[in-house]
Amino acid sequence: MDSPSPDRLQPFRFADLRRGGDDATAELLAGLRAARAAIPPKYFYDELGSRLFAAICCLPEYPLTRSEARLFDGRGGEIADAAGRGRLLIDLGAGDCGKAERLFPLLAPAGYVALDISADFLREALGRLRQRFPELPLAGIALDFTRGLDLPEELLGPAEAPRLWFYPGSSIGNFAPEAARAFLARIARACCATAPGGALLIGVDLVKDKAALEAAYDDALGVTAAFNLNVLNHLNRLLPADFDVADWRHVAFFDPAASRIEMHLEARRAVAVKLAGQVRRFAAGERIHTEDSYKWTPEGFAALLAEAGLPKQRRWLDEEGGFALFLAGPR
Ligand code: AVJ
Repeated sequence: MDSPSPDRLQPFRFADLRRGGDDATAELLAGLRAARAAIPPKYFYDELGSRLFAAICCLPEYPLTRSEARLFDGRGGEIADAAGRGRLLIDLGAGDCGKAERLFPLLAPAGYVALDISADFLREALGRLRQRFPELPLAGIALDFTRGLDLPEELLGPAEAPRLWFYPGSSIGNFAPEAARAFLARIARACCATAPGGALLIGVDLVKDKAALEAAYDDALGVTAAFNLNVLNHLNRLLPADFDVADWRHVAFFDPAASRIEMHLEARRAVAVKLAGQVRRFAAGERIHTEDSYKWTPEGFAALLAEAGLPKQRRWLDEEGGFALFLAGPR
């Protein structure tokens, strides 16, 4: 394929709406100073973290990405018929934009808006996308959408196109059920804010065998361990702090009662860490909670969507990988 000459490329619109460092610092310090220390999972995604997550998606133990791709490959026509073509595709957590890009031929979107917390990673991904789809209106917005979904209308063209919100990969799993319901309710309200016919296309990982779930979050190559530990490098730059990665060990397990994978970093020995100038001591064996990844049943997730104001549903299941795609809209 010939790439268009650079002077014919439209610049894509890009906005960095992440709130200043103070918010992040306060949030991180509160989490780390708590008796049960925690770091919100969005801090995994610095540049290396985004790359490590992309590597996780290729691991033999981590079936989510392949299951979802299999559904799009096998049922894509049906999904596009149900979702409608010519939508404004709004990608929640676009990463390298690869998942959305594979849908372009199926969905023939009127425009593409990519949201991600990792600004530089997103900007580069959109730069590459623009080379391949020079005619498609593209916009990138760097923001922490877990804090809200108020998007600047001027970035969201074409305005008249119904909106298809895209939340793939079971990222909804990072939210506890109550918070997931509240977040989905926000999307439900945003679905038809400007035009009727809006909907949400969302991927969700399903409850399955404990050993298989645990292997997916503690792979033999240690990529997930590196992904988990890398959050400390990110914090070292961000706060700053002086975590030594070698002092910490990756821990992941499935809690069947809560239906979630928990990831933690466990101190290998007693350590004193300087966090933005103040020392926080961790005892040997003490843990920092870094992620929850909730697993749903198809029925449970259907009920959650309905409670959030998205009762009009279709769903597609990948039995092999234990993964579901839902298309859900308001009445
Ligand atoms: C991006 C939240 C869907 O929970 O499976 C992968 C992140 N963490 N391996 C997940 C993750 C460890 C992932 N999500």
